Amino acid sequence: MVAEVPPDADLDELRAAVQGCHGCELYRDTTQAVFGEGPGDARILVVGEQPGDVEDRRGHPFVGPSGKVLDRALVAAGIDREAVYVTNAVKHFKHRPAAPGKRRLHQTPDRTEIVACRPWLVAEFARIRPSRVVVLGATAAQALLGPAFRVTREHGVPLPWPQRAEHPEDFPGAPEAVLVATVHPSAVLRADDREAAFEAMVADLRALP
Ligand code: URA
Repeated sequence: MVAEVPPDADLDELRAAVQGCHGCELYRDTTQAVFGEGPGDARILVVGEQPGDVEDRRGHPFVGPSGKVLDRALVAAGIDREAVYVTNAVKHFKHRPAAPGKRRLHQTPDRTEIVACRPWLVAEFARIRPSRVVVLGATAAQALLGPAFRVTREHGVPLPWPQRAEHPEDFPGAPEAVLVATVHPSAVLRADDREAAFEAMVADLRALP
């Protein structure tokens, strides 16, 4: 199955269309698809993994615990959150079924799901045309830079975009941009030393020119 992305749709139309996406199986057990949000002329595009439990229920990206870390990190790095477009590599919440009333536990999307959802992400890039890109964690890195990319090795290093894309041909006419990879905010929340992990994330974000 391939996602049917309407070719000339604007961001609002894409946001509506993604609700009908059956490009993979993840739509089956979710509340809704969660599309990116932020100004259409944002200079910075931030890409996360997938909506979490809170995002799935509320329908907005990065409004749960990871979103709070992201907001704080952007502010600490001197980046205006209101001027940032935030989205995810995968638009539906992949999770283990949970007992009634219990929080559903996140599962990492696999390569098939990342590839199936990628046309929506590519469409967001084509509309936003960012000059700065932030990749949060391995799933977002895999979606844009390919499975061989290692956040552990190249975090905080400004990389030329779209030259470093796994498929630069998917981004025709993209402006010359700079991409920086860093850890996913959930890794900060899981770290033994959260403050050190948070500072490392902020240092990576500061590498954006
Ligand atoms: N984690 C993500 O990667 N994205 C969200 O929107 C929420 C949590």
